[in-house]
Amino acid sequence: MESKVYPVSDEWAQDALIDAETYARKYRQSIEDPDTFWREEAQRIDWIKPFTKVKDTSFDKDDFHIRWFEDGTLNLAANCLDRHLADHGDRPAIIWEPDDPSHDNRILTYRQLYEETCRFANGLKANGVKKGDRVTIYMPMVPEAAIAMLACARIGAVHSVIFAGFSPEALGNRIEDCDSDIVITADEGHRGGRKVPLKANVDEALDHHAHVSRVIMLRHTGADVPMKEGRDITWDEAVADQSTDCEPEEMAAEDPLFILYTSGSTGKPKGVLHTTGGYAVWTSMTHEYSFDHRPGDVYWCAADIGWITGHSYIVYGPFANGATNVMFEGTPNYPDFSRFWQIVDKYRVNILYTAPTALRALMREGNEWVEKTSRDSLRVLGSVGEPINPEAWEWYYHIVGNGKCPIADTWWQTETGGHMITPLPGAHALKPGSATKPMFGVKPEIVDTDGNRLEGPCEGALVIADSWPGQMRGVYGDEERFFLTYFSTFKGRYFTSDGCRRDEDGYYWITGRMDDVINVSGHRMGTAEIESALVLHEKVAEAAVVAMPHDVKGQGIYCYVTTIAGVEGDEDLRKELIKWVRHEIGPIASPDVVQFAPSLPKTRSGKIMRRILRKIAENDTSNLGDTSTLADPEVVDNLIANRPDL
Ligand code: WTA
Repeated sequence: MESKVYPVSDEWAQDALIDAETYARKYRQSIEDPDTFWREEAQRIDWIKPFTKVKDTSFDKDDFHIRWFEDGTLNLAANCLDRHLADHGDRPAIIWEPDDPSHDNRILTYRQLYEETCRFANGLKANGVKKGDRVTIYMPMVPEAAIAMLACARIGAVHSVIFAGFSPEALGNRIEDCDSDIVITADEGHRGGRKVPLKANVDEALDHHAHVSRVIMLRHTGADVPMKEGRDITWDEAVADQSTDCEPEEMAAEDPLFILYTSGSTGKPKGVLHTTGGYAVWTSMTHEYSFDHRPGDVYWCAADIGWITGHSYIVYGPFANGATNVMFEGTPNYPDFSRFWQIVDKYRVNILYTAPTALRALMREGNEWVEKTSRDSLRVLGSVGEPINPEAWEWYYHIVGNGKCPIADTWWQTETGGHMITPLPGAHALKPGSATKPMFGVKPEIVDTDGNRLEGPCEGALVIADSWPGQMRGVYGDEERFFLTYFSTFKGRYFTSDGCRRDEDGYYWITGRMDDVINVSGHRMGTAEIESALVLHEKVAEAAVVAMPHDVKGQGIYCYVTTIAGVEGDEDLRKELIKWVRHEIGPIASPDVVQFAPSLPKTRSGKIMRRILRKIAENDTSNLGDTSTLADPEVVDNLIANRPDL
């Protein structure tokens, strides 16, 4: 496959933080002598007690363990705040842009962010939160969301942020799974001119998960919401009379920092656990190098703090690096399709990090929305969450970036904590659609189904052969699941579940998930989760969910549903089921298609043949492959004949 190549410009070659030669040298060292490499790199973090051991890891079953900087101690919130005060306490830490551009924005300096974090940390303590306790955060994109996270990190509490687009049911399950007895929320959030009823969702979740003893609610929209006596207090009440100083807790490098739920192959989302020291080094390093971040840059990651991108690249990485962070509550299309570019001009953003789905949605509205803004402040662009199709890449590069900003197409996962494969601006010639080359310390390999390592240009499963500091350390509350999920498929390696191709220049091209995870607008959804939700409905006997190609979202959700005997699958039921899934999981899991099927294609042993369902969803039925193992081949003809016209 031929691909266009964009070489590093002379300007970038001269001024880059990491140029091609430095990349080659540092990468080699990070693999051949990780001890020296990481001992130096970890100096970017202020340690309370310096570590003596760097890396102690093994992916082997009999001796499985992952420990980085093990005997060092630190506090990550102090690294994000306190150490910036002396030299640039007055630098903006957060530039908050509201959903509605006619409302006031807010700017918090590092000193203000420090003081607000300390006050809230003291407030948490006053409400009984101790080191190791789990704190659930269900917040809109406002500075207090970051403050709540940093406050937890400051006192050693483990935060679990739940994306505000999850339903009460999903929220309740996650509160229960990590046994959290405090929830931080807001009355409502704003999103694209609409309101999101956060507090009402919390109330509904807690009706079924009663052991939560404290809810702290930020007044944000000013909505009139009921407060439950003895359980609910406002943010203002929590911080009233609290000191603006709070001694940071001394944390061991391997103490837990946070839990973040993500979807996998099973019906139950898993609580990905990250620890403190390695994650701090990893997010700070990758934020600096991937984006060529310099002190004083205006940096904008347009993700939501409810996802790993928000954790690593709105909160921990950028704050550790003293960055000026734009934080945006709204959506790219409100009030109009120029919103992103207006914000770029308003704050003279230098680094913009967003997702292909947003680019595709804006791209189809026409270039005039972009071209009426200048965007001349932009220096680096970033992409995350899903493979970026070359068409969107070219548009991002030429139209948004005026043809002068390198694109960091960052491949990584909730599990990896930070960037794993990405070009570094100034080090790598770019090929649209390729995540390019590994980050320092990352040893990618491509293997065949038997686990044999493939050499040279090839395609197969992407695995990582050795540990890196930002790697997740466990599935919360389920020790075995961690090893089983990630290390048992290919012996001695971390399996990413992504397919990948490597070209003749050693560039990596991610081809997408190989498991039953679908990527809807850059959000990870497990098909099994949606199936579990569907079969909970009283009229559903069986359901199978697969991905379908979608122009804007990347992938859409295609559901095959068999109703119980005597129930007709009609338009009303279709609507009801869509509503049902939104209620069970949240609007992000809205099915795009519901096809009723008298029965599903199964093997004689009763296993649903998903391969066939995927083909039908893709409307690619010319070659269904081997169908000889089907118990009843007519089922397939029926599905094809009744596929809705899309
Ligand atoms: C996909 C998001 C191609 C991939 C940070 C991965 C990507 C999953 C890219 C993780 C990219 C993420 N190119 N695919 N640049 N970035 N992915 O956990 O399939 O929400 O396994 O982390 O997104 O999604 P997650």
